[in-house]
Amino acid sequence: MANAPKIAFGPATPGKAVGTLVVFCDEALKFGPLAVRMLGEVAAVVTRAAKAERFTGKSGTTLELLIPQGLKADRLVVIGAGRTTDLKRQDLVNLGGAAMGKLPKAGDAVVVADLPAASKGAGPSGHQAADLGQGLMLRAYAFDRYKTKRKPDELPSGTRNVTIVTDDVGTARKAFAEREAIAEGVLMARDLVNEPPNVLYPEEFARRTLALKKTGCAVEILNMAALKKLGMGALLGVGQGSARESRVVVMRWNGGKKGEAPVAFIGKGVCFDTGGISIKPAAGMEDMKGDMAGAACVVGLMQALAARKAKVNAVGVIGLVENMPDGNAQRPGDIVKSMSGQTIEIINTDAEGRLVLGDVLWYTKEKFKPKFMVNLATLTGAILVALGHEYAGLFSNNDELSERLTKSGEATGETVWRMPLGPAYDKMIDSKFADMKNTGGSRYGGAITAAQFLQRFVDKTPWAHLDIAGTGMDSRQNEINKSWASGWGVRLLDRLVADYYEG
Ligand code: BES
Ligand code: MN
Ligand code: ZN
Repeated sequence: MANAPKIAFGPATPGKAVGTLVVFCDEALKFGPLAVRMLGEVAAVVTRAAKAERFTGKSGTTLELLIPQGLKADRLVVIGAGRTTDLKRQDLVNLGGAAMGKLPKAGDAVVVADLPAASKGAGPSGHQAADLGQGLMLRAYAFDRYKTKRKPDELPSGTRNVTIVTDDVGTARKAFAEREAIAEGVLMARDLVNEPPNVLYPEEFARRTLALKKTGCAVEILNMAALKKLGMGALLGVGQGSARESRVVVMRWNGGKKGEAPVAFIGKGVCFDTGGISIKPAAGMEDMKGDMAGAACVVGLMQALAARKAKVNAVGVIGLVENMPDGNAQRPGDIVKSMSGQTIEIINTDAEGRLVLGDVLWYTKEKFKPKFMVNLATLTGAILVALGHEYAGLFSNNDELSERLTKSGEATGETVWRMPLGPAYDKMIDSKFADMKNTGGSRYGGAITAAQFLQRFVDKTPWAHLDIAGTGMDSRQNEINKSWASGWGVRLLDRLVADYYEG
């Protein structure tokens, strides 16, 4: 990635020259001991400047001093952390993001990882420094590889070296190795989602997953012949109008006990969704390059798990297709046979994600007998109507898995909200001509009928479906993401694995 910061950890070196110095304070304008040492006499100047600026240290606010007298820095940035006794790990990640947002495009910077009386929820100081570092990485991401003409002030003008000052350098470095692996998974997912659809079609997406082999993941690509042999008629029907071939990719990371059932993650990878013959309106259709955000998340997650050597057996399976109108495209009225043997009447060719996932869920269940399956999909516009950009929709046949996902979401800020499932909704996808149809017939409850469709392909396996149409792309920007693609779900699912399924 262009202009990614180089992050290092070190002890406090008061009096040494730095370009930009970043310190944090609480809502009483108090600094931690490390920051006090780094600031020396300048602390008094800050207090005066804060008064003049009415800066109170409220969370998310900043105070900037240029060429601060008595300090060998060109710029001093004070970031408010609010009530530091309540801080959690994710707050440190967000503070790191806020700090990165204040750094100039080039030059050296020192971020003092120190807060007065940070609460136990934020972990020991070395871990706080590592979390800040992860926030820096996530915030620094920009997708600019296709920009060839830029105004001079937009150009990255050199390297950015950021030293995070902590009193426990050893722990920070060790903890950061893990946080960095996770952040790299997030950035990988963002890159995939941001890529244009002429570049990232199913075959090319599959090719890019081969990069995971470097981290020790096994990667297997199923081609057209393999998919036909498996009988994935639902998935293949979606791709049949495209000049591009469909693919399924299976990624395996075996860091757990030998022979133990894996946890499984499944992703919708519609590289572009025109709607097919039930074609979408032109306005905003370009956003449908992101209809593979679920698959991108699974790839980023597998990369993260392998890179941090998670003690778990995990499998990631993604269905990659392109949904196009064409003389050979699937029609409304067609009946296709899924790998499960169940037949599906196509009512609307734009309800394609569930067709892809139905086959991939069934395949994963049959082949790997996993402990649970979590699938991610930009599945319905209806989930945006229900939840906006704040929560992903969670649908599940298992209370324990749902609770764990909810907790992991709260911990990472990638929040999920559970939605209902039930026989009354299930009935809505019964078909006159086949075992089921691919839409509910009414717009009402559209996210739920889509989930009911998926549930018909999971049997008794504990399963959760995350509808990320509102969070995977074009989502609310925040301190740790300024990009169209959020990489949503990588941190949530990494935490789910770390907190409940490792060791
Ligand atoms: N990929 C879309 C859902 C979507 C919409 C994702 C907006 C991100 C933003 C999906 O394939 C789709 O077209 N769903 C239809 C289903 C309908 C035809 C039953 C929808 O939501 O309108
Ligand atoms: Mn669609
Ligand atoms: Zn779609």
